[in-house]
Amino acid sequence: MDPFLRRDGILFAEDVSLEEVALCYGTPCYVYSRAALEGRFRAYQEALQGQKHLVCYAVKANGNLGVLDILCRMGAGFDVVSIGELERVLAVGAKAEKVIFTGTGKREDEMRRALEVGIRCFSVESESELYRLNAVAKSMGKKAPIALRINPDVNPQTHPYIATGLKDSKFGIPAARGLEAYRLARGMDFLEVVGMDCHIGSQLTELDAFGEALLRLKELLEALALEGIHLRMVDVGGGLGIRYRDEEPPSPDAHMSLLKSVFGVSSGYEMVVEPGRAIVGNAGVLLMRVEVLKQADALYFAVVDAGMNDLIRPALYEAWMDIVPVREREGVEARLWEVVGPICESTDFLGKGRRLALQEGDLLAVCSAGAYGFSMSSNYNTRPRAAEVVVDKGRHFLVRERESLPKLWEGEYRLP
Ligand code: LLP
Repeated sequence: MDPFLRRDGILFAEDVSLEEVALCYGTPCYVYSRAALEGRFRAYQEALQGQKHLVCYAVKANGNLGVLDILCRMGAGFDVVSIGELERVLAVGAKAEKVIFTGTGKREDEMRRALEVGIRCFSVESESELYRLNAVAKSMGKKAPIALRINPDVNPQTHPYIATGLKDSKFGIPAARGLEAYRLARGMDFLEVVGMDCHIGSQLTELDAFGEALLRLKELLEALALEGIHLRMVDVGGGLGIRYRDEEPPSPDAHMSLLKSVFGVSSGYEMVVEPGRAIVGNAGVLLMRVEVLKQADALYFAVVDAGMNDLIRPALYEAWMDIVPVREREGVEARLWEVVGPICESTDFLGKGRRLALQEGDLLAVCSAGAYGFSMSSNYNTRPRAAEVVVDKGRHFLVRERESLPKLWEGEYRLP
């Protein structure tokens, strides 16, 4: 379902007009649909029905407490990559035993906190990390449950900045060294080897590389079993893409069907999946207002009040995200606009060459901005980060205040 539909020419989020949201909370503002979030989460749950599983939402995509709360109430597990993300999910009441800790560079204090609260599993990405985690667990008299993240060396056909399963990427342990790494882990007294993990990249619009990666995992699982190393959990990461323009990404059901077909429904493994974008990406828009219209030599610029500090995906990955008017304008000539922010950088664009009929003061929405939008935003140019709002049918809730200026330099000091 698309929660962002027009009524009488005005864009709505569920039953709330985005004009009303802008009026209440100002712009720039991220707006999320509860129904869309729930629908996508449910799609993963249903796709894995009949199979022992845990859907661990990847918090990095959007860690707002309102969003986490909605997913937590639905029984979600969480994939966290830092102590900050761990504390966020605990703050909404998530059970530690539903939390997976992934990431290439976990600090000792982060490991300690995760062990203290009793998370479900650490995804370990190097031999060095095995030693470190074993030592931390030993110092606490605990055993750390671990999965090894295996790098399968497959090409997921996505933007190079978000491909993670190629042999020259910094992520995971090369599949060829997997067996050895598991032997090493097995010999460590304060680790409990429970699973295998893999994540090959993000915004995948086809599943061939995912299927290939699963086969690599399966081979390794079989080789381990021959050595008496029996795992109970397979975590296949996230990565499923969404539609930004005309992509036709597979559904969560197709994504999970491939998993079930490779391992068999009765494999006995607990299947863990870590979707981020596929849950929240299409559930959000970034609402912004046109401040200034101006003309350069051959180009027309619409300067809006959101910039690359609010949404960095276009600048960082040259990502194409749709930009639509909140109210369709009549009587204004449509032309091609460079939709840019107010920041002092030429990479500060949200969209180039967009055909729109615009006047100053108009509201625009960047579509599919629910994932890696707010979560990658910054205070560059001393700009307060945007407000965030959740719409639930006819109601709207502020789930993050727009930052106030004094907050931006809180904790900074002049010299004595
Ligand atoms: N699991 C691991 C270990 C990951 O590294 C990631 C994403 C995910 C799960 C969730 O992936 P998703 O389902 O969202 O594709 N900032 C980039 C995307 C970076 C993804 C990083 N890792 C963007 O805006 O496109």
